[in-house]
Amino acid sequence: MVKITIKNIDEIEIVANQLVVIGLFEDNSYSEHLKNNSKLNVVIDYLDSLDKKKLDQIKKYGKTIALGLFADNNPINTLLIGLGNSHDFNKDKMRHISGLISLRAKEMGYNDIVIPNLISEEESKLEPLVEGIVLSLYEFNKFKTDIANESRNHHLSSNNEYTFTVGLNHADFDKCNALVKTVKSVCDGVIFSRDLANSPPNIIYPDTLAKAAQTLESKNDKIHVEVMDLKKIEELGLNGIISVGKGSQNEPRLIIVEYNNSSTNDKPVLLVGKAVTFDTGGISIKPSERMDEMKFDKSGGCTVLGIMHALSSLNLPVNVVAVIPSVENMPSGTSYRPGDIIRMYNGKTVEVLNTDAEGRLILADALAYGISKYSPKSVIDFATLTGACIIALGTNVAGLIGNDEKLIQKLLSSSKNTGEKIWQLPLSDEFLDLIKSNVATIKNIGGRTGGTITAAAFLSHFVQNVPWAHLDIAGTAWTQDGTADRSYNPKGSTGFGVRFIMKFLMDSQ
Ligand code: BES
Ligand code: MG
Ligand code: ZN
Repeated sequence: MVKITIKNIDEIEIVANQLVVIGLFEDNSYSEHLKNNSKLNVVIDYLDSLDKKKLDQIKKYGKTIALGLFADNNPINTLLIGLGNSHDFNKDKMRHISGLISLRAKEMGYNDIVIPNLISEEESKLEPLVEGIVLSLYEFNKFKTDIANESRNHHLSSNNEYTFTVGLNHADFDKCNALVKTVKSVCDGVIFSRDLANSPPNIIYPDTLAKAAQTLESKNDKIHVEVMDLKKIEELGLNGIISVGKGSQNEPRLIIVEYNNSSTNDKPVLLVGKAVTFDTGGISIKPSERMDEMKFDKSGGCTVLGIMHALSSLNLPVNVVAVIPSVENMPSGTSYRPGDIIRMYNGKTVEVLNTDAEGRLILADALAYGISKYSPKSVIDFATLTGACIIALGTNVAGLIGNDEKLIQKLLSSSKNTGEKIWQLPLSDEFLDLIKSNVATIKNIGGRTGGTITAAAFLSHFVQNVPWAHLDIAGTAWTQDGTADRSYNPKGSTGFGVRFIMKFLMDSQ
């Protein structure tokens, strides 16, 4: 648990056992805000006593130095943190810096942290500050027996409890503390998403993922969860989902989470998330190297569940429906095969040429079903869909493809705010030609070229004219080769997408 309180800088008490964190810009005076709290004079005196060269070293972006200062014989445990040039400082740097502060405090054994001057008057930096503090402290350690045993034996749960007091000058403190609460709820959604995505495939498979989704019902009475089992999926004719799932002993599920809280009878926003709880590739089996990472192939579904979690804590006045097709893609005597032709939910037929291109098959049925059932005003899908997306955009930028420029521009603008980078790829007619089949409406792979776009072209057959955006999060859903070092993205699942979709939904009110 992390508690964050915003106070006027002169009201902050400085006591023993605290860590006092002082941010230092290269080009701004440090004394301006610190002098508003007389307890901090000792810090100003110390900094004044340093020669310029030494001080300049400390001010470099991301640099930290711990000091034991004394005021009237009382220790003031101080952490100096360099912020670099103030003109280059932006929200993402704030997010990373506040995460570094959390991690340094944790390493040094402090759980009471005071940050008097880091954001001074800038309320706009409060949001990323909170995100960095909360998201960097995330750890997926519930399967580490030593840690589990320790906290059982010694009741060390307080180990994970932190209090942050953040100083601001002349701000609307009620408004700031309300904002902190909102941001923390969004971060709880990110953490819910990370916990599910990080879970191993023997623990989270379609049925247990569905059970995790069902826990959302008790959070808010506007949430309704429906889980369709194999029989129901068969009755509906969701043959894409059935085909991909039939090689596994773990039966597929279609998870539907409805959140209805708009006063008007607004059409909902439909969110669809790929949840392949493990992707071996099936009969077109993947190489064994790093196949373990394919537990993260459920990340799209987990992102969508994280969003529903955040929505229910915030009680936002919107209507949102999440549809999450969940399967395990396994090779066996009952698997679907290359050469199979599947009649999909919307009646189109698909020639399977590679069983590892499974995500588009389950998403296609989920999209077509969700659209026909809910007549949404817009549809956004999340999927770890193609390795080609990593080749095209790397591991720090997700691919964005859609059929509605307005929706795309809104998503681009929300994601700029949260630092979750997305980049639009074109969806022109040529790509539709690449997936034409000789024996069916379409085939489930294009050629070697433009793999992320041919996958989206495939999906476009199942959304028709509804405003739709597809996010390929293959590179960004978890930390992998090339992932930028960011304190707020610890190893494993990142929960990518939860924050900017929440921004999108809050702005759409
Ligand atoms: N889940 C994978 C995509 C993926 C690969 C995500 C690596 C993240 C990291 C997807 O199901 C898949 O296997 N796609 C194939 C498609 C191909 C057969 C057309 C791929 O990308 O190789
Ligand atoms: Mg695959
Ligand atoms: Zn996959």
